[in-house]
Amino acid sequence: MRTNIIHSGAQELTYDIRGIVARAQEIAAHGVNITWENIGDPIAKGHTVPQWIKKIVANAIADDLSFGYSPTRGVEAARHFIAQQRTREGGVALSSDNILFFNGLGDAISIIYTYLNETARILGPSPAYPTHSSAEGAHAHQHHLTYELDPTNKWLPDVEDIRNKVRYNPTIAGILIINPDNPTGVVYPRAILEEIMAIAKEYDLFVISDEIYAHLTYGCEPFVSLARVIGDVPGIALRGLSKEVPWPGARCGWAEFYNSDKDVDFARYAQTLHDAKMLEVCATTLPQYVLPQIYGDARFAEHCAMQCDFYKKRAQQACAILSTVPGVSVVPPQGAFYLSVVFDDTVFNNAQTLHIDNVAVRALVEDAVKGVRKDARFVYYLLGATGVCTVPLSSFNTHIHGLRMTLLELNDGAFIHTCKTIARAIHNYTKSV
Ligand SMILES: Cc1ncc(COP(=O)(O)O)c(C=O)c1O
Repeated sequence: MRTNIIHSGAQELTYDIRGIVARAQEIAAHGVNITWENIGDPIAKGHTVPQWIKKIVANAIADDLSFGYSPTRGVEAARHFIAQQRTREGGVALSSDNILFFNGLGDAISIIYTYLNETARILGPSPAYPTHSSAEGAHAHQHHLTYELDPTNKWLPDVEDIRNKVRYNPTIAGILIINPDNPTGVVYPRAILEEIMAIAKEYDLFVISDEIYAHLTYGCEPFVSLARVIGDVPGIALRGLSKEVPWPGARCGWAEFYNSDKDVDFARYAQTLHDAKMLEVCATTLPQYVLPQIYGDARFAEHCAMQCDFYKKRAQQACAILSTVPGVSVVPPQGAFYLSVVFDDTVFNNAQTLHIDNVAVRALVEDAVKGVRKDARFVYYLLGATGVCTVPLSSFNTHIHGLRMTLLELNDGAFIHTCKTIARAIHNYTKSV
């Protein structure tokens, strides 16, 4: 090309959660049965949408309006419903004009960072859900800036670390929270959220809270929304249908803007995100159309409670098996549907292997592990030797090594088998050299 067409943030765009799929498919072509533990899609793992929700969607399809464009901000009835719901929950006031629908939070996240001034940075958690960290890094043409979640302290954020990074880096304009968190399963206690809000207030920052798993908590820490702690700090809460309905294929998520009346720059930024969305016309109409009926139905709370019971059981089963394995540690997740297994760095090295009978599969794994991080090496050997496909923890923008699996498997026996397979593989691998 006669001019450089490569975006200077291109190398920041990584998403190993899906990246590993290509390798797994190559391995599957050699007869290995893959257990997909990499992607947080309940539907792909066999979860079903309740009949009453399908009926609401089927009825909506009978209405031609559900086939049309919707207003750029989103279907008025859906925004009105969300604003009322937030008001009932208490906390900051939210009007329907301060809600903006997107084609899933993936779309929201992309627009949020793309239209942030190039020099303004968002400080996010590490480990980090890679859509946030990649999009923020690509926007700034640099690695994402992070604060630490500490596995030795129940994956809680180190608030002093946040404060110091904010204090000494004037380019930081906002703090990102993922609550409940992917990949750690931590649910932020109110006291920590309040400390983060105090930092934001002191340094004149805004806060982004990704709350896509808001209704999926099952530990002793109750979920506290951004709306309830934000006070007069400007902020954006992100919610969506993907995980809770679950309906990831709807590509439906939304942003709630809090306190835009209290800061002109934040109001202008919120307006920019709306204007950017307007260029795309609007988000998908049908899911917005049915949202008030789904969330407003008494059965929705029951449905979420059932899912929480299920994930709680899975978390307990996984922790019971994996917490006994030497060389790794686990923190019981309190929300979302993932488990992060942390590797003791002194136990894992770059020479360890797992026995793989199939010569072609072994060759693929040996090729895949060239130059990769220590945890990715284990993840590839695990994949080749057992077919269990997980994601290295270091793919979540962290120096901490480990792996992330999901809690989605429906079959009790299959789930226990997967956990035991991972446990045995860690044991054999760490003993191999
Ligand atoms: C924390 C978090 N935010 C956002 C998303 C993406 O959501 P959506 O399906 O709405 O794009 C995910 C998906 O795994 C997630 O874990």
